[in-house]
Amino acid sequence: MDGDTPYGLIENGTVVIDEGIIVWVGTEDTLPTHFAALEQKDLAGRLLTPALIDCHTHIVHGGHRAAEFEKRLEGASYEEIAQAGGGIVSTVRSTREAGYDKLLESALGRVDGLLAEGLSMIEIKSGYGLDQEAELTMLRVARAIEKHRPVRVRTSFLGAHAIPQEYTGRADAYIDDVCLPALLAAHAEGLVDAVDGFCEIIAFSPDQIERVFKLANELNIPVKLHAEQLSHLGGTLLATRHKALSSDHLEYATESDALAMKESGTVAVILPGAFYTLRETQAPPIAAFRENNVPMAIATDCNPGSSPISSLLLVMNMACTLFRMTPAEALAGVTRHAAQALGTTDTGIVRTGLRADFAIWDVKHPAELAYRIGANPLHQRIFAGH
Ligand code: NIG
Ligand code: FE
Repeated sequence: MDGDTPYGLIENGTVVIDEGIIVWVGTEDTLPTHFAALEQKDLAGRLLTPALIDCHTHIVHGGHRAAEFEKRLEGASYEEIAQAGGGIVSTVRSTREAGYDKLLESALGRVDGLLAEGLSMIEIKSGYGLDQEAELTMLRVARAIEKHRPVRVRTSFLGAHAIPQEYTGRADAYIDDVCLPALLAAHAEGLVDAVDGFCEIIAFSPDQIERVFKLANELNIPVKLHAEQLSHLGGTLLATRHKALSSDHLEYATESDALAMKESGTVAVILPGAFYTLRETQAPPIAAFRENNVPMAIATDCNPGSSPISSLLLVMNMACTLFRMTPAEALAGVTRHAAQALGTTDTGIVRTGLRADFAIWDVKHPAELAYRIGANPLHQRIFAGH
């Protein structure tokens, strides 16, 4: 998958791997003779793609929010539920209660769903602890997933996700007393690959997020942001000033946000599961991202409130049907652009020198991956050559 078509598709392709790394890619008839003696595996004409990457998840969490789902169907909005003490804060209660073992067990169940679709790397956020110990527990669970499953984990500290009940009306005090010290402690324990925040009327203002980003800068940790999901608060411009890896959600982002993202090299992470679940009607400005060559990633946003989904294939389909992304953009969105959103350069493309992380599919055409709904055509997942 590294040629000239929109997919970079190579017909009759061959990939040579050694010690978990790709050492050659090309058409079968141009395979250098010195490779011919190696052990070979015939994929019988199946499609081989990079393994999938989910670059935005809250997959570690306690409990569920099915009752909130019912309330929304009766007409309550996501914001109303949050303002009445439900929403994210209700998952904070369940997450604090669950503790390490239960959090790990439930997260592994959801991770298994993604692995069955050819996942090799997943980003996992904290943000349902909102006190130092519970935030650290979430991140320790996220790291532990790598030990229990053959998958790579990238963690994001999301202390600025919501204002916990004990700090109601005191967001600034929460940032000073809890969020910043928790970030320092999590970083000291090696638990933080990136720093995230939720910039929204029901969460934190750009100024409050900026204080968290400043500490991230001092610690040399890259940042990313949940921005312009429910309204246009200017989070994306703040993120781009901090050279964010990604700005995520973006339903209310504008053309000038897209221009700023182009300048700062910030990936647009599109989250169709949250758009769908919240019955949002304003779509992210896909055309502006496309015209400005802003790379678009797609992710599950797997969480118990706004996106209770753990299928990347399904969100690829949603991105195409809801936002008119092309199936080729959808595939790039869960492979190379997702890798870019995580600041990772060793995966996401089938290219010499990169990791041999592949998904092998029982499909004839790559568009089938986004086209089918509720099907899983994965034949085999290969992780570091195995
Ligand atoms: O990405 N937008 C903020 N955070 C999550 C939702 C979390 C929740 O509702 O529990 C999101 O959609
Ligand atoms: Fe999210």
